Amino acid sequence: MKIDRRDFFATLGGAAVVAAMTHEARADALEHYLMGAAASGAAKPFPTAAQIEAQIETRPTRRGVGNLFVSAQGNVKHLQPLPEKPTLQDYFKLRFTRTSNHCLQSANRAMKTGMSEEIILACLLHDTVQELIKVDHAYWGAQMYEPYVSPKVAFAIRYHQALRFYDDKENGYEYPDLYRNVFGVDYQPEPYIREAWEMAKKHQWYYESRMVTVNDLYAFEPNVNPQLEQFTDIIGRHFKQPSEGLGYDHSPAAHMWRSISFPDHPL
Ligand SMILES: [Fe+2]
Ligand SMILES: [Fe+2]
Repeated sequence: MKIDRRDFFATLGGAAVVAAMTHEARADALEHYLMGAAASGAAKPFPTAAQIEAQIETRPTRRGVGNLFVSAQGNVKHLQPLPEKPTLQDYFKLRFTRTSNHCLQSANRAMKTGMSEEIILACLLHDTVQELIKVDHAYWGAQMYEPYVSPKVAFAIRYHQALRFYDDKENGYEYPDLYRNVFGVDYQPEPYIREAWEMAKKHQWYYESRMVTVNDLYAFEPNVNPQLEQFTDIIGRHFKQPSEGLGYDHSPAAHMWRSISFPDHPL
């Protein structure tokens, strides 16, 4: 079923509200909208990339902004401080509030289908950096996690963004309608995305990254709330928590963690 983007946005309170939503929240809203459209028999077309482009100046923020920096509704709220030596779990509980359910669902599906622990961890982490920034999120995410996970997990995170744009039916991945709505039906990924896909599909860790995209497809379920504790052992085995706390170990990514910890610092 196709939808009218403007009509869909209007039902959510406007383009600025939609821009501030996580993609799981957007998917939930889309599902409700489609259910309503199905009931009324009104099937609307996917927007074009030009129509999406035309929306840019209708919003106060850009679409690539991180969740922590823009409120989904009304003003932003005070954030609870993180402990002195914050762990990954602390960030999940206190900062990854708008990405965690989607990531937990994705990791849960990887676990239930018997995937490797590294794939499960990559799924668990794959979109969490969207709290900091959404544009090119997989590259930011891989960089943020690189000091703490295996190169294979970082690869799986880095390339899932490019692989999302390309079918791989053999491995159970089909280009999602969500992207037809969010990017436009005729959207063509930029050359760097195509080049990343060309490289990744010949790589020894292609499967790991592809599986992040496969689990992504099934991770927008309403009323499914896997718990982080389910992954405690996998985090313990595959995530190197720095003893100083994430943000204070002087790693090349420490500033990214601090920015998530203190998004209200003006400089
Ligand atoms: Fe993603
Ligand atoms: Fe995702």
